[in-house]
Amino acid sequence: SAELWQSAARVLDTNWSGDHMVPSRRLYPHQWSWDTAFIAVGLAFVNPARAWRDLRSLFEAQWPDGRVPHIVFDPATAEDDYFPGPGFWNVPAYAGRRARGSTGIVQPPLHALAAWEVYRHAAAHGAGGVSEARTALAWLYPRLVAQQEYLTDRRDAGGSGLASIVHPWESGLDNSPAWDEALGNVPADLALLERFPRRDLAVAHAAHRPTDLDYARYIGLVRNYRDGGYSDTDLTQRHPFAVECPAFNSILGTAELALAQIAGVLGLTGDARRHRDRARDITAAIARRLWDPVTRTFRARDARTGRLSPARCVSGLLPLMLPDLPADRVTAIMEEARSERFGLPAPSADRTAATFDTRRYWRGPVWINVNWLLRRGMLVHGLRGEAEELRRAMLRLVHEHGHYEYFHPETGEGLGAPTFSWTAALCLDLLA
Ligand code: DGY
Repeated sequence: SAELWQSAARVLDTNWSGDHMVPSRRLYPHQWSWDTAFIAVGLAFVNPARAWRDLRSLFEAQWPDGRVPHIVFDPATAEDDYFPGPGFWNVPAYAGRRARGSTGIVQPPLHALAAWEVYRHAAAHGAGGVSEARTALAWLYPRLVAQQEYLTDRRDAGGSGLASIVHPWESGLDNSPAWDEALGNVPADLALLERFPRRDLAVAHAAHRPTDLDYARYIGLVRNYRDGGYSDTDLTQRHPFAVECPAFNSILGTAELALAQIAGVLGLTGDARRHRDRARDITAAIARRLWDPVTRTFRARDARTGRLSPARCVSGLLPLMLPDLPADRVTAIMEEARSERFGLPAPSADRTAATFDTRRYWRGPVWINVNWLLRRGMLVHGLRGEAEELRRAMLRLVHEHGHYEYFHPETGEGLGAPTFSWTAALCLDLLA
């Protein structure tokens, strides 16, 4: 596994772009939000200065309303190297920010946890890194808080204490079957794709990517949100897609707990208490709103119709990350994870469902990042044996097939981008 460590470190060197990391050179040539968080966790072991630099690049693009964009564009990359690029998003200029364009949607707020992990690593190893880490934490803290407040205040479309996503891209689980029913309400104009051709298909297999029908809806949703000035007012009336995702909201709750730790280090005791209270409230809202008592599983809820998604997806396993999750929910998640529908490492969606597709992105393949989150959840609940089994299974997969973006859930074949930053970064964490 010295070999695996070396190859992972090499991927992160290759994908470093001066002041930020790209997820992969060809398919994703800019900076992505939740990728930055997973990547920081791995960089903590090989180059913590870059971990802090990468987080800072992302948060320098934060909007005045607190939202952290899901992509920060690299001005050195041509407009047509990625679609939809900065011209299509056409976000409002915001004063005093660095001249890098961005998108106007978000991704799961995993950055507080990442910052806490990088700090913890520095503190454990002592020496000069600790004061650098403290300074970085102090710079990030108010920005991380603003990110949370944007999500909990402006994005509570369902009035339930949970954040809604306004686009499948915001989940990071783009074409998950969890969105199929809600997307049924979103008009799909395939002619849009003739005017705005997809760029991803030039650099990846069509069978491994979302379909044209998905893309037509993705582009339509961007246009609607953009044409509404990226406003979140009256979302459920003005926007055809608003969904409460169990994974996104579990990360939201976990972020409050990480912020409590960070506030503690910064000597902000009152803030730390408030963050813990918010984490408890978010956990309670997830346990109440997203739980289906009939199947005893967590599901995405459509904030417009109030309906729970019929699809069982890996996102439904991630409330395990929350320490205050009631014990019966923990048991149910582990039963589901161990059942024939999933198994470890967990595929992105139910193996037994008609929608299961072994190669198509989030409709079946195994992804390292969500399994890494699932393993954290096991550790949070003291499930050491299961966590160790999952750790070994993930490392075996990457060792045998490479630092791929995702993997065939039956054969392990590597899919998507071949040298993918978060796979490499999380490998470093799993090996350490
Ligand atoms: C992509 O380009 O496929 C990304 O997932 C969108 O964020």
